[in-house]
Amino acid sequence: MLTGEVRTRVEDIEKQFSVSEEFLKKAVTFFIECADKGLKVKNDPEALLMIPTFVTSIPTGKEKGVLLAIDLGGTNFRVVSVALNGDHTFDLVQAKNPIPVDLMKGTSDELFRWMAEKIHDFVKENHSNAVESGNRLKMGFTFSFPIDQTSLDSGTLTRWSKHFNIPDCIGKDVVKLLQYHLDALKVPVVVSALANDTVGTLLARSYTGADKEGKTKIGCIFGTGTNGAYEEDLDNITKLPQSIRNELKAKGVRKMVINTEWGSFDNKLRVLPNTKWDEQVDKLSPNPGFHLFEKRVSGMFMGEILRQILLDLYREGLILQQYRTEDKLPHRLRTAWDLDTEAMSLFEIDDSTDLKASELKLEQMLRLPTTVEERVVIQRLTRAIAHRSSSLAAVPISAILLKSHALDGHNVNVDVGADGSVVEFYPGFRTMMRDAIAQTQLGPKGERRLHVNIAKDGSSVGAALCALSSEF
Ligand code: GLC
Repeated sequence: MLTGEVRTRVEDIEKQFSVSEEFLKKAVTFFIECADKGLKVKNDPEALLMIPTFVTSIPTGKEKGVLLAIDLGGTNFRVVSVALNGDHTFDLVQAKNPIPVDLMKGTSDELFRWMAEKIHDFVKENHSNAVESGNRLKMGFTFSFPIDQTSLDSGTLTRWSKHFNIPDCIGKDVVKLLQYHLDALKVPVVVSALANDTVGTLLARSYTGADKEGKTKIGCIFGTGTNGAYEEDLDNITKLPQSIRNELKAKGVRKMVINTEWGSFDNKLRVLPNTKWDEQVDKLSPNPGFHLFEKRVSGMFMGEILRQILLDLYREGLILQQYRTEDKLPHRLRTAWDLDTEAMSLFEIDDSTDLKASELKLEQMLRLPTTVEERVVIQRLTRAIAHRSSSLAAVPISAILLKSHALDGHNVNVDVGADGSVVEFYPGFRTMMRDAIAQTQLGPKGERRLHVNIAKDGSSVGAALCALSSEF
């Protein structure tokens, strides 16, 4: 349907976003190398962070108790009360608070005080007994950013990711910060475990999954950001001081969950595809030079990549030429991060005549009137970006399964627990990811034995499970 110069240009961009089988294999090998290095050394810019989480047991589904959990994600702050019923099921009451944008860039005191206030409101409403009796409730804290974790209930912030940038928080213990503000408000809560959202997802899926489709080997997030966690042999985590490993071994511990922080895979761009739009998005982000894998994969960035390409096509005189100068373009198209990935979900599957559904969405969301031809361009670019994202998503999953020999043995099946808006709602994301997994060293046979399941509310339930494990 496209013709002439526009068509050539779109085809050229599609080529830049295509991912080959050869690339996938190479990237998997490199991922394994970076992961192995990250288990041995700290602070190597080429290695993955591979953060030891001090979570040393995986739930069986028999756990019982009522616990609080909070989840500071990329967009929302959730306060949750979880009742684990001991039979793989749970009941959950939650309050979801969108995080005000100015708090993401203010001071740590402002953010943690706001969180403490929200927890206070929730506890007053849902646990009035605790407020009256003064009995402190245990709470798991899902903090979805890179942390240098020193025990189950302490960890200092290494760096921010996603939309957050609060410099004074770096290097501080986030559990202490929160506990300080909770105590100041006299909230009867003790923060007893700190967990990454991927760790929460791994634990929650292990609790609910009941091994129906094999053991849960990876907990992962494809949402605003992306990351994954898995269980590693303690003996391989040689960067953990020997004294700590010995102490754990004496207690019978053999494994520990590792938060890979795979969003930061290949920050030196040794293998990852790199287009001029990726570079522009990186420059605009709060953490340039970091989380370069995440910036090619997760929800926060896909829409912005599309916006950057559309601006370029406009500047090249190929689309939206009714706007004579750039400052006349609709404000939202000129504003970074205003084109969200949710709209791309609609463009991806729009099969209405003349892409009318996309036309409406573009008008509502960006106040942007478009021609059919422009909408075809947008749909093709959307598909190219999402296809690259979901194919790249195959790399860490395949690498971890290969590295941990999870699929070795006769007829072994494994479960991958996933959470996040992209994997849950982006049309075809999981299928495209699986197609790419089949092209890696796992091959179609390995791919068939892997089941990707959504761990609904995974991070909060997982944090509650972590808080419970602090009792043992
Ligand atoms: C970012 C964070 C990571 C988190 C992921 C998904 O990559 O650094 O800790 O798990 O987003 O929310």
